[in-house]
Amino acid sequence: MKNVAVIEHPLVAHHLTVLRDKNTTPSEFKSTVDRMSYLLASIFYAELKGEKVSITTPLKTTNGTRIKQNLVLLPILRAGLGLTRGFIDLYPEARISHIGLYRDEESLKPIKYYFKFPKLKDKKNTKIVILDPMIATGGSVIFTIEYLLNMGYNDISVVSLLSAPEGLKAIDNRFGNTERKSFNIYTCSIDQKLNDKGYILPGLGDAGDRMFGTL
Ligand code: PRP
Ligand code: URA
Repeated sequence: MKNVAVIEHPLVAHHLTVLRDKNTTPSEFKSTVDRMSYLLASIFYAELKGEKVSITTPLKTTNGTRIKQNLVLLPILRAGLGLTRGFIDLYPEARISHIGLYRDEESLKPIKYYFKFPKLKDKKNTKIVILDPMIATGGSVIFTIEYLLNMGYNDISVVSLLSAPEGLKAIDNRFGNTERKSFNIYTCSIDQKLNDKGYILPGLGDAGDRMFGTL
């Protein structure tokens, strides 16, 4: 699959195992997703481009690096919220946009109920990272990318915990030939398949319900 990076990291694998375990409590689930958000942020942030700047230390003038790109974090509500903290803590200059989507239980199509995006002048210099723990049919991610492309943004990445092959294929079929500056998907595992209700197997169950205790 083009542009898909499967993150290989012993701590990521360890925490993912905690998340998959059905005996993990909602409180452990939440704190583990939070820990994952720091690991994933540090891996994703290698994409950012720094620019050389001249600064003066208390002793002398020297060169340093500063990030000049606009960065927008875009968690897909609800479960994407769980992945946000590490990203914002490691780079507090990032803006946070929100999109509210839920999957219709019958059709599995995403239904939008909320969207808020910062007013930015320089679209070309803006990088957006969509945060969503689960890529199942791919419908939610496809909807969000289409929305952003229609707004004129094309530097878009996605960070997730688990993906189904069906969802990654659907994203590739939809955007494989889209002209874009960069378009990367980071995931911690490509699982086996979807079940007939659109859940990832073996997966971790319903991420939003486990995170917010709404089972
Ligand atoms: C889950 C998950 C993704 C979506 C993935 O959200 O957090 O957003 O499903 O499925 P897809 O790839 O088939 O679109 P859900 O609709 O359960 O809403 P929630 O986060 O509010 O629980
Ligand atoms: N959404 C989830 O939370 N889990 C799945 O397995 C699929 C979609």
